[in-house]
Amino acid sequence: MELMRVLNGIRRWFALPPLPDTVVIDGVEMRSPYWREYGDEAIKAGIWRKASELPRTLRVVSRFAWQASPRAFVAILVLQLLSGIASATGLLATTRVLTALLAVGPTPDRVLAAAGQLTLVVVAFAGRGLVVSVIATLNSRITPVISRLAEDEVIATASRVELAAYDDADHHDLLSRAQSQGVSNLTQAYNQAVGLLTAIVTLAAAVGAVSVLHPLLALVLLCSVLPDAWATLRGSRLRYISSVRRVALYRRKSMLNRLLTDRDAAAEIRSYTAQPTLIREHRRVGDVLLNEQIELGKVAERIGVTGRTISGLAVGAGYVVLGWLLYAQIMPLAVAGAAVLAMRTGRSALSQLVLSLNRLHESGMYIGDMQRFLTEATARTRPATGRQAPADPEVIELDRVTFSYPDASKPALSGVSATIRRGQVVALVGENGSGKSTLAKLLSGLYLPQSGSISWDGVDLAEVDESSIADRVAVIMQDPTRWPLTARDNVRLGRPDREDPQDLLLLQAATGTGAAEVAEELDHGWDTLLSKEFKNGQDLSGGQWQRMAAARAVYRDAPILICDEPTAALDARAEAAVYETLRLLSQGRTVFLITHRLASVKHADQILVLHHGELIEQGTHPELLAAGGRYADLYTLQAKAYQPDELTAVGA
Ligand SMILES: Nc1ncnc2c1ncn2[C@@H]1O[C@H](COP(=O)(O)OP(=O)(O)OP(=O)(O)O)[C@@H](O)[C@H]1O
Ligand SMILES: [Mg+2]
Repeated sequence: MELMRVLNGIRRWFALPPLPDTVVIDGVEMRSPYWREYGDEAIKAGIWRKASELPRTLRVVSRFAWQASPRAFVAILVLQLLSGIASATGLLATTRVLTALLAVGPTPDRVLAAAGQLTLVVVAFAGRGLVVSVIATLNSRITPVISRLAEDEVIATASRVELAAYDDADHHDLLSRAQSQGVSNLTQAYNQAVGLLTAIVTLAAAVGAVSVLHPLLALVLLCSVLPDAWATLRGSRLRYISSVRRVALYRRKSMLNRLLTDRDAAAEIRSYTAQPTLIREHRRVGDVLLNEQIELGKVAERIGVTGRTISGLAVGAGYVVLGWLLYAQIMPLAVAGAAVLAMRTGRSALSQLVLSLNRLHESGMYIGDMQRFLTEATARTRPATGRQAPADPEVIELDRVTFSYPDASKPALSGVSATIRRGQVVALVGENGSGKSTLAKLLSGLYLPQSGSISWDGVDLAEVDESSIADRVAVIMQDPTRWPLTARDNVRLGRPDREDPQDLLLLQAATGTGAAEVAEELDHGWDTLLSKEFKNGQDLSGGQWQRMAAARAVYRDAPILICDEPTAALDARAEAAVYETLRLLSQGRTVFLITHRLASVKHADQILVLHHGELIEQGTHPELLAAGGRYADLYTLQAKAYQPDELTAVGA
């Protein structure tokens, strides 16, 4: 019992204290803050499992190194072996030089006898120096390429992940670890792998030499390095554990950092004097991070000191053994001199080996994260089936479409069925949060339903290539992206490969949506950069941005047009112009229109009324009015607001 307590005490001494369970904000105690919700299997895995992952790390590293430059990769391997051979040769030659020098006989004779071997020592070590510098040159060329390749792969993979992953916190955690640590650790691991190879080769040479002199010395050599090895391994594991549990905190902190310093929120932060609240949260998170770093430093130092002390004692013991071998005349003095040299080389090679192994093991954990990200992100990327969506669908069929966001308690859409024909204008109406934008994303193929299906001319969208769906759809998002590009490129992004050297199509799209007026008033017309964060850039008003978004969608010239509140920020004249354009566009196209202004949906061919994610009414304007349901209520409510005051007074 007592022993267990002592052992547990020792274990705690060398472990990180847990993160605080509760946090007090403004006097309110918050249980289980978000950063406790990391559950990483990697933390619990034992050291042997980690060691067994070394080959995997080496495989990943080699894959990237080979990709970076196959020739340099092979050259480095060969040169490493050469350097090992050179140091073994040098070491053995040194042993022979010492033996010759310490032999009995006149000094000049002994020096002459040693001269041959001495030359070999010089050649071997000089050769090794040359090889090492060639390796370093090759390395400095190959390392940045590896880093770029990895960064590229992570970003490219992340950009292809299906949209639903963005609502999943785990995805963001893993991506942030892959980006911040995975990539940099890959280049480190590469350098460590090269170091490991050097150490193995040198160690083999040294152990070989020592064992030839006396087998017991090899054992002493090993014992003197083991405690150090334990300390470095333990330290790296702690660093990794700490980094995993800090990642959510770091993300939170940088999010606050961005909010406090970026342009987007600057005005709102000031008008609500939100700075103190945000800064307080920033400091609170910062404090937890700070404590964690201090604790990590403390524990790492404890571990390091222990390891170094025991190692020092073991080295002392090694010399005692050597002394005893001499005293008992088991080993002659000449051999003992060579043994000391070989042991020192061996010890430094062994420390290098342990250090490289340890760093590799540490980097391996981060690389493991990166690999996991790449695997999971690829699994969340819709596979290319090679099947194309119909080019210009005649019928769009929704069959009991149900969709839930990750971790949501109830579905955002459930059991929505409808049939839409080419040339129809379909209005989606309903209160805030009723599922309109979600349905728009499903219709545009950005999300796939969890049950039920959406099909075009009988082809299920789940079975065709995502890009082929996107190609047939133009969307005006509810919250369109404000691209920091020129006004022209903001519209052209709708279909960048469209041939339009004279800007005719661009102007056509821009005129009907009011974007042309916007561009005319800009300092450099269509060439104005639309971002205040760069020199000579200009910003637009909310409505002007929306006109740009509408122009972009029209420019895309797709058979299906989805408009999520395309006119919410537009003035009355611009709104009328956009609706006129949409009316013209609807010839031969299918248009989905989401709006809260029910007056604009009166002429729609179909109106779908959503409520809490369910389709509760469906029909034309007169049909729905006659039905006297929710649509009729909402419509009457809005219509009333437009009556002259006298009429409202009479009606009330
Ligand atoms: N990314 C998301 N992650 C989780 N839940 C979401 C997400 N986006 C929307 N929701 C939820 O799904 C439901 C439907 O949202 P949706 O955006 O489709 O509503 P909407 O009808 O477009 O509302 P509005 O009129 O305000 O634009 C809401 O309850 C909302 O809280
Ligand atoms: Mg919406």
